[in-house]
Amino acid sequence: MTIAIHPMHPGFAGEVSGVDITRPLSRDAVTAIEAGMDRYAVLVFHDQPLTDDQQMAFSRNFGELEATLAGEMTKPEERRMVNELGDISNIDHRNRIRARDDAKRLYALGNRLWHTDASFRATGAIYSLLSARVIPSAGGNTEFADMRAVYDALDDATKREIDGLICEHSIAFSRAELGFADFAEAHRAKIAPVRHRLVSTHPVTGRKSLYLASHIGGIVGWPVPEARAFIRDLMEHATQRQFVPAHVWRVNDLVMWDNRTTMHRARRYDDMNQVRDMRRTTLRGTGMDVEQAAAA
Ligand code: OGA
Ligand code: MN
Repeated sequence: MTIAIHPMHPGFAGEVSGVDITRPLSRDAVTAIEAGMDRYAVLVFHDQPLTDDQQMAFSRNFGELEATLAGEMTKPEERRMVNELGDISNIDHRNRIRARDDAKRLYALGNRLWHTDASFRATGAIYSLLSARVIPSAGGNTEFADMRAVYDALDDATKREIDGLICEHSIAFSRAELGFADFAEAHRAKIAPVRHRLVSTHPVTGRKSLYLASHIGGIVGWPVPEARAFIRDLMEHATQRQFVPAHVWRVNDLVMWDNRTTMHRARRYDDMNQVRDMRRTTLRGTGMDVEQAAAA
């Protein structure tokens, strides 16, 4: 079998066939998938019944795994999986659906805001890989925004204005937007703002992207209200319908996205009555670090 990729949206999001990612991959297959990611930024693999170990093994072809912040903030005895896997579900370690006022549920609702994973970390993240183990009968789609097309569609004056701007990202900003502030004192260091350039350049393709997320709370050198109003305008531009296809999940889908060039958000579903169990691996950022260090 040879790997083929069919675009699902003009130049964005490809559906991959001809590969079994539950098994070890050849170097050529890894290279083809990386090239597909450079081109489409989001790749969908259907019918891949991954175990946790297989998901981690597949992900490690592309870099080093990063623990999720939610996992780090969960007591070890209450984790459903190892810390290299992010628990993107609505159930607890006893497989019970989380109560409406459960702090972990309320924290996870932040995924419903447009974001890119781990932009609140100094290193950011490269790819995220989300595997659907159990899905609800309706709702719970994930939408993706192509931040390269979003950048390209800005007018020249805006491109000039934003070139060189540096944003402050913190998980506390996105959660505050939903009225959630329940961070333990022990996690203060993890929520301290980090700085990233608003315009990033892809290390392989050289394409520019808007590096935007609901985690942004300020722009260095700007008054906060002016920065937040401007970020809202950019968010509105970025999330116009033509930039944001939705992925409608099937069980055993794996969707992989490049956090440097996309945003995403979860859509609602009946999470009081239906289980949605997704697991995420996340690849630690490296490529943008030099630029970020220079920006900091
Ligand atoms: C994530 C995420 C969206 C979803 O896993 O990083 O934002 O639809 N998930 O669950
Ligand atoms: Mn996410």
